[in-house]
Amino acid sequence: MLEVGRAAPAVRELMSEVLRGKPGFEHEYPTVFGDRARGRVVSWNEDGRTDSACAILVRDLRCPEGSARLGLIGSVATAEAQRGRGLATRVLERAESELAARGCLASLLWADDEAFYTARGYTRVGAEEDFMLDRVLRPYLPTPRSVRPARATDAAAIHRLYRQHERRALRSRRETAELLAGPGMRVLVHGGPRGVDAYTCLGRGGDLSAVVHEWGGETEALLACIAANFDERQSIETLFVMAPLETADADARSLPGRLREAGIPSAPGILALGRLLRPDLALTALRRACETPQSFGTTRHGECWMLCGPAGTAAASDAELLTFLLAPRADRTALLQLEGRTGLAFPRLPLRPFLWGLDSI
Ligand SMILES: CC(C)(COP(=O)(O)OP(=O)(O)OC[C@H]1O[C@@H](n2cnc3c(N)ncnc32)[C@H](O)[C@@H]1OP(=O)(O)O)[C@@H](O)C(=O)NCCC(=O)NCCS
Repeated sequence: MLEVGRAAPAVRELMSEVLRGKPGFEHEYPTVFGDRARGRVVSWNEDGRTDSACAILVRDLRCPEGSARLGLIGSVATAEAQRGRGLATRVLERAESELAARGCLASLLWADDEAFYTARGYTRVGAEEDFMLDRVLRPYLPTPRSVRPARATDAAAIHRLYRQHERRALRSRRETAELLAGPGMRVLVHGGPRGVDAYTCLGRGGDLSAVVHEWGGETEALLACIAANFDERQSIETLFVMAPLETADADARSLPGRLREAGIPSAPGILALGRLLRPDLALTALRRACETPQSFGTTRHGECWMLCGPAGTAAASDAELLTFLLAPRADRTALLQLEGRTGLAFPRLPLRPFLWGLDSI
């Protein structure tokens, strides 16, 4: 029987066993498994056992181009003896319908092996930029004199720095504090004359051991934190720094701007795999982003949406609607075709929301 609720011990056990091979992994995800967590789990239970489950979490994302409510899905797992019975497929479908009912435009998830999800309608969406810093750069970074490991009492200052990001998920101060206390993560802060003015998070659980996946604050102070990460982890030859993908004319004083200016190599990446859950919300978002919303019309034709403008009509599937809004690597090719066929303009699209490393479930 399918159930949606808080994570019962049997669900935690299943996920720990399948995804980590050991107990305790739930401490990495307090937004799902914590006492006051907003996240929920969808599970398939039979004869008192949990055979398959996944976690879900609703997140409101903000970015300068607009905002979107998205549903995160994580920790999809089926007990080894129960695989191939269609359980994960049913759990995933229920997770999607729950998130759709809670107003999520699309579901997002991360997978090492994408095949299971692409067969179930998921496509690559959104953008990020991954910088690769080689250890040979260490002498050119600022001295990490005022950098120290974060203490629990720094959480409020760190949350304030997090909130300065234009591209982020809305999360509470308590959630940030709980996430910072997760296992397998090194959080460093830089203490300036007015208190903490930068932080970096390296590693999370068993993952991202050479990746600064979340950071915030003043750029020089951040570079000092990065130097300290190199000094602490002598085994790291290349340190990866995840960042939102900015346009070429973005603030040159920001950390990505400074890294780009210094010639640090980077690669544009995707944000996640995504599936459109609410076409109605996607059409509203498209209309809102259209320069002339009064000349934007939509009708349904079989499996397709017909998008009409002054110059003509373009047909789009659900997946294409999602691509217009959250194009992989912010590529405007699909939007240019839409604009060409319809004569409509969507200058603010695609949206480029970003999920920092602490947000994944
Ligand atoms: C992936 C997983 C959740 C599938 O669970 P399941 O209950 O067996 O899934 P279903 O029975 O609904 O679907 C089985 C289908 O998925 C396919 N499949 C299973 N694992 C797959 C994988 N890694 N890549 C591609 N396809 C896969 C099966 O071949 C089968 O295909 P079919 O529907 O065309 O016959 C399960 O194998 C598992 O727990 N794996 C380990 C944990 C994991 O990788 N989780 C996902 C990371 S977020």
